[in-house]
Amino acid sequence: MIELPGWPIADGRETELLQEVLRSPQWGGFNPLVGKFEDAFAAYQGASFGISAVNGTVTLEMMLACAGIGPGDEVIVPAISFVSTASAVTRVGAVPVFVDIEPYSFNMCPAAARAAAGPRTRALLAVHFGGSMADVDALGALCAEKGLLFFEDAAHAHGSEWKGKRAGSFGLASSFSFQNGKILTAGEGGMVLTSDEELAGKLRSYANQGRRPGYSFFHHFEAGNNYRLSALHAAVLTAGLERLDGQIEKRARNWEVFRGEVGEEIRWQSIPGAVNRNSWYLVLGRVVGGDRNGFCKRVQAEGIPCTPFYPHPLYGNPMYGEGGAACRVEACPNTEVCIGDAFWIGFRALMGDAETTRRVARAVRAAI
Ligand SMILES: Cc1ncc(COP(=O)(O)O)c(C=O)c1O
Repeated sequence: MIELPGWPIADGRETELLQEVLRSPQWGGFNPLVGKFEDAFAAYQGASFGISAVNGTVTLEMMLACAGIGPGDEVIVPAISFVSTASAVTRVGAVPVFVDIEPYSFNMCPAAARAAAGPRTRALLAVHFGGSMADVDALGALCAEKGLLFFEDAAHAHGSEWKGKRAGSFGLASSFSFQNGKILTAGEGGMVLTSDEELAGKLRSYANQGRRPGYSFFHHFEAGNNYRLSALHAAVLTAGLERLDGQIEKRARNWEVFRGEVGEEIRWQSIPGAVNRNSWYLVLGRVVGGDRNGFCKRVQAEGIPCTPFYPHPLYGNPMYGEGGAACRVEACPNTEVCIGDAFWIGFRALMGDAETTRRVARAVRAAI
């Protein structure tokens, strides 16, 4: 068994900031620390405004609702993602249109997205799966050409960059998650980023019970919700953000060590040259023509967090089955093949020292 570093992690910096909050009279979302973290994270990703919330599922829903997506609209999403990418579309009353991924980048195929855009399509929600970014050039151009709103689900892509520009700064708005397994975490949490001031105002009001700046606490202009992130969460996230760059750099170095040792039998995720920085949330690969499930079990037995891909495409969830929520499913041949032979290894595998990484790579190679 290989001993990998644990996750999540905390040190004296979290304690210091948590104590600051605990000594204050405001532990909730109105503590200035929350706004400071929103500004810091928005600046880190290259956006003008950050609106935090309790998790990365409600941030997707807020983002779509406040941008005016609703009944009668279709939103193009990749067939491979965590459920929230699609359920947020459903929850605002719109229809997800599932399109295929590319076979090795595991991200939305721009040609498939183009073919899927129809008269009711209002928006496209790209996911940066595992941290390596979807082709934002092609998808952004498609959205511009067809008049679609472009959104990013950047739940995996804190710190990732496409041609020097950070994830979450390409579309009208983007959504991040700070859930327990994410590379920046407070156990739970999320944030919407945008550089559109009007949208930022709507989001802020929506997450704060319909309040508006300059009015009293008991003036509510719309039926919003209380989605505010607590100051305790913001304290932990502030400390985590201070460490994030160092951790990303460590994973990038360890990826090189891993690649050098593991060999070529696995088809590892193809990272476009435009991705000059990858968060390395997941190490993704495909066991082409082999026994993927057996491979994952053998890797897990070595103490390495290895998971077979999702058991089905998003449209295979019972929610979108017969009599379920409305959706449109385009042909997804790459998705269907990846369901059977792809897998991911969690980022903890790249968080040890170089020798530990070499041992991980040897264990993975031996499991093929
Ligand atoms: C791609 C993607 N989007 C959204 C979410 C939802 O985030 P949360 O768990 O914070 O609700 C996740 C979480 O795992 C995710 O992987």
